[in-house]
Amino acid sequence: MCGIVGYIGHREAYPIVIDGLKRLEYRGYDSAGIALFDGQHLKISKTKGKVADLEKKVENEISKEGNLAIGHTRWATHGAPNDINAHPHFSNSGDLVIIHNGIIENYGALKKELIKRGYTFKSDTDTEVLINLIEDVKIKEDVKLGKAVQIALNQVVGAYSVAVFDKNKPDEIVVARLGSPLAIGIGKNEFFIASDASPFLEYTKNAIYLEDEEMAIVRLGKEVKVRKIKDDSLVDPYIQELQLNLEQIEKGGYDHFMLKEIYEQPNAIKDTYRGRLGVKNGIIKMSGIDDNIEKFLNANRIIVVACGTSWHAGLVAEYIFEDLARIPVEVEYASEFRYRNPVITEKDVVIAISQSGETADTLAAIKLAKSKGAFVFGVCNVVGSSIARETHAGAYTHAGPEIGVASTKAFTTQITVLTLIALKLAKETGKINNTDYRYHLQELDLIPQKVVESLKSDSHIQMIADTYKNARNFLYLGRGYNFPVALEGALKLKEISYIHAEGYPAAEMKHGPIALIDEQMPVVVIATKKGHYDKIVSNIQEIKSRKGRIIGVVTEGDTSVKELVDHIIEVPETLESLTPLLTTIPLQLLSYHIAVMLNKNVDQPRNLAKSVTVE
Ligand code: F6R
Repeated sequence: MCGIVGYIGHREAYPIVIDGLKRLEYRGYDSAGIALFDGQHLKISKTKGKVADLEKKVENEISKEGNLAIGHTRWATHGAPNDINAHPHFSNSGDLVIIHNGIIENYGALKKELIKRGYTFKSDTDTEVLINLIEDVKIKEDVKLGKAVQIALNQVVGAYSVAVFDKNKPDEIVVARLGSPLAIGIGKNEFFIASDASPFLEYTKNAIYLEDEEMAIVRLGKEVKVRKIKDDSLVDPYIQELQLNLEQIEKGGYDHFMLKEIYEQPNAIKDTYRGRLGVKNGIIKMSGIDDNIEKFLNANRIIVVACGTSWHAGLVAEYIFEDLARIPVEVEYASEFRYRNPVITEKDVVIAISQSGETADTLAAIKLAKSKGAFVFGVCNVVGSSIARETHAGAYTHAGPEIGVASTKAFTTQITVLTLIALKLAKETGKINNTDYRYHLQELDLIPQKVVESLKSDSHIQMIADTYKNARNFLYLGRGYNFPVALEGALKLKEISYIHAEGYPAAEMKHGPIALIDEQMPVVVIATKKGHYDKIVSNIQEIKSRKGRIIGVVTEGDTSVKELVDHIIEVPETLESLTPLLTTIPLQLLSYHIAVMLNKNVDQPRNLAKSVTVE
C-alpha cells in the first residue's frame, strides 16, 4: 500500500513526481503529498484526497521549481487520512524529509523514547516517528544521513520502503526496503525512485530493484551503492533492463483501466500459455514445474495460499487439480493459515497465488511454509515481486500490468496457469488419458477466441445493469467449478459498486440464503451445460417460485434455462473445467457497468488498494 516516487537530477522534478504518483495511485489514494527542494527552499504540500487534489493545492501553496523531489500517495494505516498525516513527513529540525510505504510496528515504544528526548510530533503516523529517530541517531552518533538511516532501521520492527533526503545535502536520496517494493531508475546523471517502475518508464529502462533488507545511497555523479541494512556489507546491484512499455500502463482509449483489462483478457490468456502450451506435440513446458517435478509427484497434498480474487482462483484450482490430477488440495486464506499453527510437512507443496506478488499475508504464509520444510511454488503476475523472489520456484501469469484495483485479467490468467500445471501433473501421473489430455489442450487454446465471443454480450449486459443498478443486495450462485466464479462475481460487485452481494454454492441456498429471496432480489445463477446442469435448473426453479429476479449465465443455445429466468447471458460451450474462464467475463462486465451507472470510482474504489502490503 502507498506509492512512493522520487527524482534527483537535471530536470524539473515536479511533473515527474506528480505524473509518477498518478501511475501509482492504484496503491492507495487516501491522501497525497510532495516535498520539493529548489537549491534553497524546502517546499512541502500535502492533502487528504487524491493526486489531483494535491495538484490543485500545490498551485496555491508552493512554487514548482526544483530538481529534487519526493512524493507519496497514501493508503492510511496509522492515523486517519488527513492533511497532517499525509506524507512527506519531516524531522523536528525541518532538515530531513521522508516518504514511507509500510508499517513501523514498534513505533509506540520509539515515540515514547523520542518524546523523552524532547521530540514533538504533529501527526499520528509511524513515519514521523521514523524520521525523528533518524535525526536523533544522526545527531547523537554524528554520522551522515545514510548511516543514520541504517542505524535507525536496525531499531525498527515492521515493513517499509523509504526514501529520505536532507535539505542540507541535496545531491542524494537514501532509500531502503523491507517487505515493500522499491525500484531505482538509473538515467544519465539522474535517478528515479518508485514503488514500481511505471513512474520512470519514459525516462529510463534501466532499474535496480532493491531486495529486502537492502538500502542504497543514490547520489548525483556517483554509481548507486547498495548495502545490507543489517551488517553494512556491500551488494553488487543487478541493473535490469525493463520490458514494460508505456502503452501497457495507459488506458488506451478505454474509459477505465478495469474495462481495458477486461477486454485484454483474450490476449492476456494467450500470453499466459504462449510458449508453454504445445497443442500439436501435446507438451506443456513450464520450467518451474519441470525442474521440480519430483516435489509435485511425491507431494502428499497441495496447499494453496492466497487472498481475495487470487484465493478464488485457488478455489478453481482445487477443482481442477483434484478432478484431473487426483492430487488432494486445500485452499487457505493466507491470513488465516499464517496464524493458525497449520500442520505442514516436507511432503507438502504450497502454491502461493498473487497478482501483485506483494501481499503481506501471502508472503508471511510462504515464509511459514518454507520454515516447516514445504516446497513453495509462486503464481505471480508482477515480475521480480517479493513473492516471486521468496518462493522456491514459480510461474508468471504474464497478464501485463493490472492497474484497476478490482482484479480481472489477473484472475483468468491465474486460472490459466493453474490449469496448465494441473494438466501437466495429470499427464505425468497418468491420471488423465491421452485423448482427454489432448482435448483439454485444444480447448484451452480456443479459450481466447471464446472470451472474445463472451465479450460481445457487453451491450446486453449494460441493459441488465441498468435494470438492477438500484438493487441493494445481489446473490450469486454457482456449483462445482463455477462456485468460485460466483464468489468472484459477488466480490467484484461489492468492491466497485458498494452493493452488498454474496456468492454461494447454489445447493447451499436452501440452507439459509433462500430466506432472502423476494421480488427485490436479483440472483445471478451460473448454469452452464456441463457439470451439475439439472441440479442447478432445480435451484433456479426454487428461486423462481419465490419470485426472485434471475440473471442466468448459460451455454450458447440453451433453451431450458431461458424459459425460467428473467435475463439470459450466453457464453460459448467449452469443457467444464474451463468454464470459469468464460463465465467470469459477464460477471466482471455486470459489476463494471453497475458501478459506472452509480457514478462510482471504478478504478479506485473507496478504502481499497491494489497491493496490500499490510496484514
Ligand atoms: C479483488 C482484489 C483483491 C486481491 C487481493 C490479493 O478484486 O483485487 O481481493 O485479489 O488483495 O491480491 P494479490 O493477488 O495481489 O495478492
